[in-house]
Amino acid sequence: METELVRTGQGEGGFTPKEEETLRRAGEIIRAGGLVAFPTETVYGLGGDALNRESSRKIYAAKGRPSDNPLIVHISNLGDLEHIVSHVPEEAVKLAQSFWPGPLTMVLPKAAAVPYETTGGLDTVAVRMPSHPVARRLISYSGGYVAAPSANASGRPSPTIATHVIEDMSGRIDMIIDGGEVGIGLESTIVDLTVSPPQILRPGYITGELLRQVLGPVETDRAILQADSTQVPRAPGMKYRHYAPRGELVIVEGTGQQVAAWINRQVAADHASGCRTGVITTGERRRLYQADVVKCVGSRQEEESIARNLYLVLREFDQEKIDRIYSESFGEGRLGGAIMNRLLKAAGHRTIEASKEWEQDT
Ligand code: TXA
Ligand code: MG
Repeated sequence: METELVRTGQGEGGFTPKEEETLRRAGEIIRAGGLVAFPTETVYGLGGDALNRESSRKIYAAKGRPSDNPLIVHISNLGDLEHIVSHVPEEAVKLAQSFWPGPLTMVLPKAAAVPYETTGGLDTVAVRMPSHPVARRLISYSGGYVAAPSANASGRPSPTIATHVIEDMSGRIDMIIDGGEVGIGLESTIVDLTVSPPQILRPGYITGELLRQVLGPVETDRAILQADSTQVPRAPGMKYRHYAPRGELVIVEGTGQQVAAWINRQVAADHASGCRTGVITTGERRRLYQADVVKCVGSRQEEESIARNLYLVLREFDQEKIDRIYSESFGEGRLGGAIMNRLLKAAGHRTIEASKEWEQDT
């Protein structure tokens, strides 16, 4: 299959007639059962008609993804929710008023219109109204209901620029819309409203604290917090070992100085045994390291930059011949929970406490 690559602006000040025509054509592809990758404010999505079971089958095939892993249905009008959900609880209305359009996905009881192919056999459906103008326009041209997982091949980090989508999806889908770099860089927060109290199934830009301000008590699915948890996560997608970089990744916890000292000592030992090493750090600490490849993921002064670049940096490491990657921890700020959730999964939950080792040595 030949994949057509088209470009649009971010659409903030509206679209040119040419862009409008491109998006209309992309919408027609989806209506006709085809697949189009497009930018959202979180990550790039791989879109198909959510109400067409064949389209959902094609999405799983293009990603190489297990078909028991349900898809998120994207809408662009609040009024469209009633068609795909059998009951709209009061909590959903409140969350929509506060956070839609935006990076929040709600799990709700599904209506008959949504095929089981889209929900991975579940009686619930995950729904999100994205804020990215390109996504919104495409959804409305597509008939209103776009099923879209992240547009990566299964087992790779979610795409934050069109180049990532091209790497993973060229020849497998009909069209890729390049709308530039995404804003957030981590997938949406998922909250399950079919249980009481509501449960966070995936942490994201909309934090538990923000949700609690609107809803009162909200819990977090315990299975996503613990490495050794025997519980099966309630969002089926969270159970898969998502992505592991080609080099072994270890997260090093501790103060800046402890972490740098521990990593540099480890790097020296690795070099002595012929291993190539990499470090994931921030602008503030970049100069502290002596590894073969030192990558700066962003700035601690602006943790949004760390969220935005994390997947990009992980993909870059896959192109380098690195045996061991050491990463600092980025858990302190508002987005710390969401960032560390992704980083811990990439590391297979391998973490080291530099401070403990440091105390033993000094
Ligand atoms: O930011 C995002 O949410 C991006 C963009 C494209 O919107 N999409 C995305 O989709 O991350 P995906 O398919 O990569 O992740 C969807 C997650 C999976 O972990 C899946 O198991 C969970 O949502 N999910 C979907 N429907 C569900 C349901 N009915 N109940 C529980 N979890 C569900
Ligand atoms: Mg994904």
